[in-house]
Amino acid sequence: MITEHIQTAAYLFASILFILSLGGLSSQESAKRGVIYGIVGMIIAILATVLGGEVHGVTYIIIAIAIASVIGVIVARKVEMTAMPQLVAILHSFVGLAAVLVGFGSYIDPHSQALEGVEKNIHLVEVFAGVFIGAITFTGSIIAWGKLDGKIMSRPLLYPGRHTVNIALVIISIVLGVFFVKAPGTEGMIYLIIMTVIALYIGVMLVMAIGGADMPVVISMLNSYSGWAAAAAGFMLGNDLLIVTGALVGSSGAILSIIMCEAMNRSFWSVIFGGFGNTTSSGSGQVIEGEVTSITHEEAAELLKEANSVVIVPGYGMAVAKAQYPLYEMVDFLRKEGKEVRFAIHPVAGRLPGHMNVLLAEAKVPYDIVLEMDEINDELADTDVVMVIGANDVVNPGALDDETSPIYGMPVIRAWDAGTVIVMKRSMATGYSGAENPLFYKQNTEMLYGDAKDSVNKILTDLRK
Ligand code: TAP
Repeated sequence: MITEHIQTAAYLFASILFILSLGGLSSQESAKRGVIYGIVGMIIAILATVLGGEVHGVTYIIIAIAIASVIGVIVARKVEMTAMPQLVAILHSFVGLAAVLVGFGSYIDPHSQALEGVEKNIHLVEVFAGVFIGAITFTGSIIAWGKLDGKIMSRPLLYPGRHTVNIALVIISIVLGVFFVKAPGTEGMIYLIIMTVIALYIGVMLVMAIGGADMPVVISMLNSYSGWAAAAAGFMLGNDLLIVTGALVGSSGAILSIIMCEAMNRSFWSVIFGGFGNTTSSGSGQVIEGEVTSITHEEAAELLKEANSVVIVPGYGMAVAKAQYPLYEMVDFLRKEGKEVRFAIHPVAGRLPGHMNVLLAEAKVPYDIVLEMDEINDELADTDVVMVIGANDVVNPGALDDETSPIYGMPVIRAWDAGTVIVMKRSMATGYSGAENPLFYKQNTEMLYGDAKDSVNKILTDLRK
């Protein structure tokens, strides 16, 4: 067992490591270091907590940690990169559930029951707020998991008067909170239970109201909620480190949500309040006129041979096909032939913030040829060939001019500005948002049907001939 002083010092050290970890994660070069800081910080945090004087039943805790670690390793090894968002969502739900359980446990704990006066009131407010945030995070994250996994329809569920209902439920919860704080002993339990049911319902409705195209923001928003839920649990348990860590996660998640909202041209408040004032259509866009033309991989290779500048736009399909490895071989070949080849990354391409960057880094693509949408959009008009690999929504011109499109208002990569656009996908199917894509019908667009990895391999063989 360690003394309180050592525990405080360990907590401080772990907090510093967590801050360094977040700092490290802000750039690709330092991300690995950031992850290591985070792991070391978390090991110190767990040891300092478990070995602290106030913790009993250490053996049970160690057994639980061992079992959970094995499950964690198995799940992390098994999960496909494309299924990471679902995993993250379900992990957020655990944080929410933990906050709810800590809240109930803390309410009936004899130590907190022995508190008096202002101290007691503050503790009860902490419990009530912690359970409220935790319950919303719990069900909201489960719905997000369902939507990301295709188990629940991704279209927004909007019913008339839902904002009034939500506001009324929040007001009822506040009134219940007042009764809860005033109730003697554990008599406030009934108010706590009713509020929990209401918060569970709010969590469901908040995320159900958000359309498929806005899911990236929901992931980061739930990340933020889970941080606040952890901070609330920290207050209830009187654990400073949990408060600091929760606040770090809460605020960094909120900042990420704001960045995602800006990238998608959505109102932050609209997403926070479950599609409040949401004008996003739930349709699939206007009917598109025009003809779709397709090419073979030999023809695609010819177009690349003739081009001086090539921009590649990867999307979710590249991740599914694991096409990044042969793709980099192809890029390397073209660069050695003296061509300028760069990647254009949309902030919400794939299913995770930074999804494409991670995959390209995995395939050892140099960072300096990987550009953000805003850095490259204006240069596309001077580009000979744009290759769209398994991307769809992020190159959809309907987002700019079709008010009926579910992604209307979202900035996109203007692939159609280039001389020729090669779109590599398996069919004419829509992307995540369900919006039809007028890019496929443009005169300078050629479809190259097939699995992205197969197509890239075939093009590479043709290029080498
Ligand atoms: P999507 O719009 O989802 O389009 C991906 C395309 O890849 C599909 O149309 C599919 O067409 C094609 N595809 C699938 N498997 C393929 C394979 N093996 N080979 C070749 N093509 C394949 O992807 P995007 O352009 O990256 O846009 C991302 C979307 O996901 C946005 O709507 C975004 O809002 C949403 N979203 C993003 C996130 C984050 S944080 N990035 C989180 C949740 C949701 P075929 O079936 O015809 O092949």
